[in-house]
Amino acid sequence: MDIRVFPTNELLNAAAAGLVAHLLHAKPKAVLGLATGSTPVGIYEELVKLYAKQHIRFREATSFNLDEYVGLPETHEQSYHAYMQQHLFAHIDLPAEQANIPNGNTADLAQECLRYNALLEHAKQIDLQLLGLGHNGHIGFNEPNHALVAGTHIVELREETRIANARYFNSLAEVPTHAVTMGIGTILKAKSILLVVRGTEKAHIVHEALTGPITTENPASLLQTHPNLIVMLDAEAGALFK
Ligand code: F6R
Repeated sequence: MDIRVFPTNELLNAAAAGLVAHLLHAKPKAVLGLATGSTPVGIYEELVKLYAKQHIRFREATSFNLDEYVGLPETHEQSYHAYMQQHLFAHIDLPAEQANIPNGNTADLAQECLRYNALLEHAKQIDLQLLGLGHNGHIGFNEPNHALVAGTHIVELREETRIANARYFNSLAEVPTHAVTMGIGTILKAKSILLVVRGTEKAHIVHEALTGPITTENPASLLQTHPNLIVMLDAEAGALFK
């Protein structure tokens, strides 16, 4: 496990975007696993800058997003489809048909999980999976539980997750109760994983996840088993690592 603590978020963003750029140079057809939320925003900004300067291109790459809310149309400003357009896809040359996001707004969610799993199987392996971390240890929307699911599935969001994400909605009641998420098995199958964590409020959970017992009650703790895990922390999130 490679844990790096950065004195500023600018340095962290540049390092994380640099990893993606390095991968795209070495392997233009790379398969990228992408995350949403506040954590990757600065990294996507850096990638857009690198693309604008023609340092990287995404034309041959493929991407898979971790998750999407159930019941929000793609056009809803808080859908992860809209997020990805806003922060990345609208600004780069990744063809739309190579950018995969689960569809949470369909009548047949079970079929959608099968479809997404089949796409992931076909892609064989994600080269680099970008992850943020939930306040309760979730990765993707794999919430703490007595058992976890390997493949894409529907999950009921925990109350603390809905409360954390309510900042983007007008009220807690508007935050969806369920999401479609890539499973923990798919995440752990990635060739390499980049976990990015920012902020004092996550210092304890990331320390516990990476140094404490491996338990499904802290899903990120399973990352300890991954052979190629890179962790990038800002100074606040990394405060407990000596
Ligand atoms: C988002 C995702 C979630 C977030 C996590 C942290 O696609 O899968 O696991 O990474 O909830 O969210 P932020 O970055 O908003 O604190």
